[in-house]
Formats: sequence, structure tokens, C-alpha cells
Amino acid sequence: MSDNSVVAECPQERAENVGILGIDIYFPNAYVDQTDLEKFNGVPEGKYTIGLGQLQMAFCSDREDIHSICLSVTKSLMDKYSISPKEVGFLAVGTETSIDKSKSVKTVLMDLFFESGNTDIEGIQSTNACYGGTDCLYAIVVAADIAIYASGPARPTGCCGAVAMLLGPNGAVMFEPRLRATHMAHVYDFYKPNLSSEYPIVDGQVSIMCYLRALDRCFQLYTEKASKQSVSAGIDTFDGILFHSPYSKLDTYNDRDLKELLTTISKPMFDQKTNPSLMLTRVVGNMYTASLYASLISYLISELVDSLTNRRLLLFSYGSGMASSMFSARLSQDLKVVSKLVAGIVDIPDRLRARHRVSPQVFEGILNGRESAYNMDRYVPTGPIHQLMKGTFYLKSIVGKYQRFYETV
Ligand SMILES: CC(C)(COP(=O)(O)OP(=O)(O)OC[C@H]1O[C@@H](n2cnc3c(N)ncnc32)[C@H](O)[C@@H]1OP(=O)(O)O)[C@@H](O)C(=O)NCCC(=O)NCCS
Repeated sequence: MSDNSVVAECPQERAENVGILGIDIYFPNAYVDQTDLEKFNGVPEGKYTIGLGQLQMAFCSDREDIHSICLSVTKSLMDKYSISPKEVGFLAVGTETSIDKSKSVKTVLMDLFFESGNTDIEGIQSTNACYGGTDCLYAIVVAADIAIYASGPARPTGCCGAVAMLLGPNGAVMFEPRLRATHMAHVYDFYKPNLSSEYPIVDGQVSIMCYLRALDRCFQLYTEKASKQSVSAGIDTFDGILFHSPYSKLDTYNDRDLKELLTTISKPMFDQKTNPSLMLTRVVGNMYTASLYASLISYLISELVDSLTNRRLLLFSYGSGMASSMFSARLSQDLKVVSKLVAGIVDIPDRLRARHRVSPQVFEGILNGRESAYNMDRYVPTGPIHQLMKGTFYLKSIVGKYQRFYETV
């Protein structure tokens, strides 16, 4: 293992200050511009860019699927932070992008550990959220989705993206222990009952209502729990307030004047505590399961690393259907630890600039292609390989019996 490795020797006692030691994101190398999409879809200018606050949307061709994007982000995380495959003891994937009703995406990621001989890696797959960490072992958590909607008002709020995180003791972002508020309920706001389609059934307005109701409930419960533990939960005590962000402008009131007044009053607080976390949402889109962690990444690269130490963050995670949680975290006081974390993601602005802008016509064509190839047991993708970034895993072919084979660029 190299000197800059973040994985030290396996501790024997109970792990302390468990948190995020390394983080990386994968997003496709192609995007459609939301102004182009407004014209193409014949909606009023500004509806997606101002109304939803979205500037660009990443998407992938038939060359990529949930396996390939998880392979890409996990391999990249391991390379960037010099994680030895032998020292990972837990790996879990959070996703709702299913291409198999039984075999988990996690099992596909075991290919990355094959040569090391380490097969002693717990964790499987979860839809909605993923919590994990085991004494003495380092954990990798991958959150990834291909978020695409059928034609209609929801389509501009899609995307494709994956976040991988290395968790372990003495993290750079440490979760505050025993302080988590959860709100779960049975609602039909967004769900995927049609197993022969990649698209969800979504009631957009209901989903916004459910999201905001869950946010209110979680915050109320969080403050109650914090008060019982004599921990401060006032908004002022948080330097950053980060959200699951399906798009960057969600609001709750029907009264336009009231909405404008409240937006004006809260603007300084929003600009300071939340706006820095929305960069990736605006230019990549809604990564579903990965969305909150993309917000964390945006926040971490929004300022010079020296100013990040010891900051306190409040985070809200929402999954339709519904499952939601609010929890808090603190950045380490140790600048070296925080710098190591941020070093893995400073290349993001360059990666964003290197992407290809694709016309809405091509984008629609690609989505139609994905639609007709969905669920085929034999298939050779046609999406261009040369446009993928170096190191990206891609689907080479589905060779019968639905078995998928991957290569890297
Ligand atoms: C979000 C969603 C419901 C929007 O659908 P829509 O029918 O286009 O919604 P609207 O007509 O209300 O337009 C959206 C916003 O753009 C605004 N808008 C419309 N035209 C505009 C224009 N020309 N210029 C500026 N703003 C405009 C609307 O006023 C509205 O803003 P408001 O909510 O502040 O009133 C839809 O994209 C969707 O279903 N997305 C998927 C579900 C989702 O992401 N849910 C979130 C919870 S997880």
C-alpha cells in the first residue's frame, strides 16, 4: 500500500468517530442542456432553468447500466484513495435501478476484489438507503441510479450518477452518534411496479408534498431528540444544510407573494448554508439514491479546504414511497484528514468541463433506444465508446441468458 493510503491497520477495539474517509462521484460524459430541452419540448423559456433551477442533465447511452456505473465509481474510489482490496470488510450498494430481481449489484462489484482473493466482504444491496459499518473493518458504500422518466413533465428532472464512499474510524466527515430522525410511511408518490419498463410511475405534485411533509416531520423529531440529548439543533448551529435534491428549486407555498417574501427573507441563509451544495444537482441532475451525497461533494468543493474543518452539517435524505432520515455530521478538526478527503474530488470541475453537449434529438433517440433494448437477453450496445472517460466501465454485450460482460476504456 502506498504512503498516502487512507486505510491504516485494522483496529482491534471498537471504531471511534466513524465517518467518511474518502468519496468519489461518477457522472456520464454526455449531457443535454436544459435551454435546448425547453425549446425541443416546446415549453416556455425559463421553465426548466428558472422554474426548476436546472441547467444541464447528464444521461448515459446503452453502453452503461447500473453495474457499469457502480464498477466505475468504486474502482475510481479505490484507486484515488489507495484502498487495498484486502482491507475492505463491508460493501453495500444503495440503488433502485434494478436489472435483476435476485442477483445484487454488490455481487458484480466483487470482480474488483477477485485478484486480491478477498471474498470476506459483507453487505448486499438496499433500495432507499444504506447504512453500514463494522468494527475492525473498512466499509465502502455505493449509492447509484440511472434516473430516467417517460416523456412528459418529469423527464427534465432525470440524470445518471453514482457516489462511492469509504467509511472508517476517525473520518473526515463524522456522523453525530445516536442523533437520527426518521419518517417512513406508505404513499404512492413515485414507484416502479412495471417490471418491463425502466420508467417509474410518478405523481410529481404529490411527491413534492410528501418530500416536504417528510422534511418537516424529520426536523421536528430531530430537534426533539437533540433536546433530550442536550445537543443543540438550532439552524444557526449548522454551517451547511444539505438535502436530497431532485432539482434545485423546490418550494411549498401556493401563495406567490408569500413565497417571494419568504424566499427574500431566507436568501442570505440559503446562500450560505445550502446553495453551495446544489452545484452538481444543477449541472448533472437528480441522482436519486446518490443525490444527498452529491450535495455533500458539491459543498466540500465549494470553498478552500482550510475553511472546512470543524464545520457542522445537517443532512436530509428522502426516498419516495417513502423513507426519509435527517442526521448530522461534523467535519474533522484535522486539516490533513479533511484535505485527504477533498483531494479525491478536486478534479470534478475539470471532469464537468470535459463533457459533451448533446442535442435533445440525440438524447431522445438514446432514451428510445434504451427503451426498446430493455430486458433483452441478448444485445450488443451501439453507444459510442470513444466518448466515455478513461477508466470508465462499459457494457460490451449481453450474451444470452441475460449475462452481461463489461470492459474498461
Ligand atoms: C417537478 C415536476 C412536478 C414539475 O412538473 P411541471 O408540471 O413542469 O410543474 P410546474 O408547471 O409546476 O413548473 C415547475 C415550476 O416552474 C415554474 N415555471 C413554469 N414556467 C416558467 C417559466 N417560463 N419561467 C420561470 N418559471 C417557470 C412554475 O411556476 C413552477 O414553479 P413553482 O413550483 O415555484 O410554482 C416534474 O418535473 C416531476 O414530476 N418531476 C419528478 C418528481 C420529482 O422530482 N419530485 C420531487 C420530490 S422527490
